[in-house]
Amino acid sequence: MSLNKFSRTLTQEVTNPAAKAMLDMQKAQIGIASTGYEGNPCNMHLNGLSVHVKKGIQENGMVGLIFNTIGVSDGMTNGNDGMRYSLPSRDLIADSIESVVLAQWYDGVITVVGCDKNMPGAIMAMGRINRPGIMVYGGTIRSGSYKGQKLDIISAFEALGKKFAGNISDEDYEGVIQNSIPGPGACGGMYTANTMASSIEALGLSLPNSSSYPATHEGKQAECIAIGAAMKALLEKNLCPRDIVTREALENALTVAIALGGSTNAVLHYLAIARAFDVPLTLDDIQAISDRTPLIADLKPSGKYYMEDLLGIGGVPAVMKYLLQEGKLHGNCLTVTGKTVAENLAEAPDLEFDNQKIIFPLEKAIKKTGHLQVLYGNLAPNGSVAKITGKEGERFEGTAFVCEHESEIITALSKGEIKAGHIIVIRNAGPKGGPGMSEMLKPTSAVMGAGLGDKVALITDGRFSGGTHGFVVGHITPEAFEGGPIALVKHGDLITIDAAGNQLTLHVSNEELAERRKSWVKPAPRFTKGVLAKYIRNVKSASEGCVTDEG
Ligand code: FES
Repeated sequence: MSLNKFSRTLTQEVTNPAAKAMLDMQKAQIGIASTGYEGNPCNMHLNGLSVHVKKGIQENGMVGLIFNTIGVSDGMTNGNDGMRYSLPSRDLIADSIESVVLAQWYDGVITVVGCDKNMPGAIMAMGRINRPGIMVYGGTIRSGSYKGQKLDIISAFEALGKKFAGNISDEDYEGVIQNSIPGPGACGGMYTANTMASSIEALGLSLPNSSSYPATHEGKQAECIAIGAAMKALLEKNLCPRDIVTREALENALTVAIALGGSTNAVLHYLAIARAFDVPLTLDDIQAISDRTPLIADLKPSGKYYMEDLLGIGGVPAVMKYLLQEGKLHGNCLTVTGKTVAENLAEAPDLEFDNQKIIFPLEKAIKKTGHLQVLYGNLAPNGSVAKITGKEGERFEGTAFVCEHESEIITALSKGEIKAGHIIVIRNAGPKGGPGMSEMLKPTSAVMGAGLGDKVALITDGRFSGGTHGFVVGHITPEAFEGGPIALVKHGDLITIDAAGNQLTLHVSNEELAERRKSWVKPAPRFTKGVLAKYIRNVKSASEGCVTDEG
């Protein structure tokens, strides 16, 4: 297919339009899928980057054809019902890229993406399509500043929590809100977008340093132009995504995500990506990777630094080189450069531990094992995912404060009803029950802003923003909508979160739970028409990556 068509490419200039069109038909056609749209910072510049990608494609004798698919901004939907569409958008993005590339029979695909769901959606599509493909990350945002303090989107959410608690003046609240988002790019900490971008670079599906260049850095534009030569080489070798995404490559991706202190959403997305590539990967496999991967990055949300700071010390390639030297990565995995991980990293800079405080050596790791922990127990028989950096401790015991919707937290906090020792339980927020498995950024930020971050824990069958920190457990399966034990929790029940023993325990007897189950009624689906109704019918559990294409 692609190789034959590509090998007929003519290089001499032709000016007659009809003849040019005929010649173009002889060239490889590359779909350039952009999730660009004007509505939010992570995506607003992607159509512009796509034009540079197209230029690089044309300069290398191929035809580049830009098309658009959707995007949903988590930064704008967090805390409102629009959030229900966020995770479903991942699968819509995958579906739409698959549809255009296979319907139009493009020889390859470049995905230009910049927000949390865009990236896994693009990679899932590349797994299904399996034609030569490369992902271009739109890049991280630069940090904002107010009164000498660096800011990002989480600063804005936590300012809201401080406002509820009366801990910030009106002037400073406005100052933080107005200055948190200074331009284009994805949320600036090691939140979900930067977690996915860094780990996809380690997976081998983007060019080295793609995840490190901020959106407005000159290197980002250069990367877009360089994509043309890289795609040409992939076509010549007929090197396809399924040649690159092996079990070892997925282990590399998750190792980098964990070493950098990445988002719990990486668990959900890599379960889904593995399924798109037909590579077996389970929650227990991810726990095993976490067990052998120290957390070595002092990046936000739990640390001090931003993604833009990482570039100054060598970026993700420098971190990967160090992890490879320490035997934490598989060096022989292929990448979209046509070279192996080890070959790509041979020229990468070395981390200088004496001159920076962003990345720590393994022997001085922030946490000796990964912060992503899979918990089981009678409250999560099929698994749940916790983010435990160690700063919160590894065990929390408290009494349940049960909410059926995240908005109840804000009300309860403003009334002072949530107190130290509570474990907030937000249920019916799962993939089917939500629907859409919303992120709980607003409640967790509000808890932080109220000064309860180290005194209160939160568990949910929903999920978390990459910006969430504190003692939190999400992805609880089975979800409440399916009758999981979280549906049976009552106010005041004693709960233990044991991150060291990987257990989430509801201290209620089996007999009592059986009694409660008799009176449990499955909720009616919140949607019976439209995309969310389809989602409720098709989505698999969080422990299965919330995929929607498996029937
Ligand atoms: Fe897009 Fe955070 S909202 S990266």
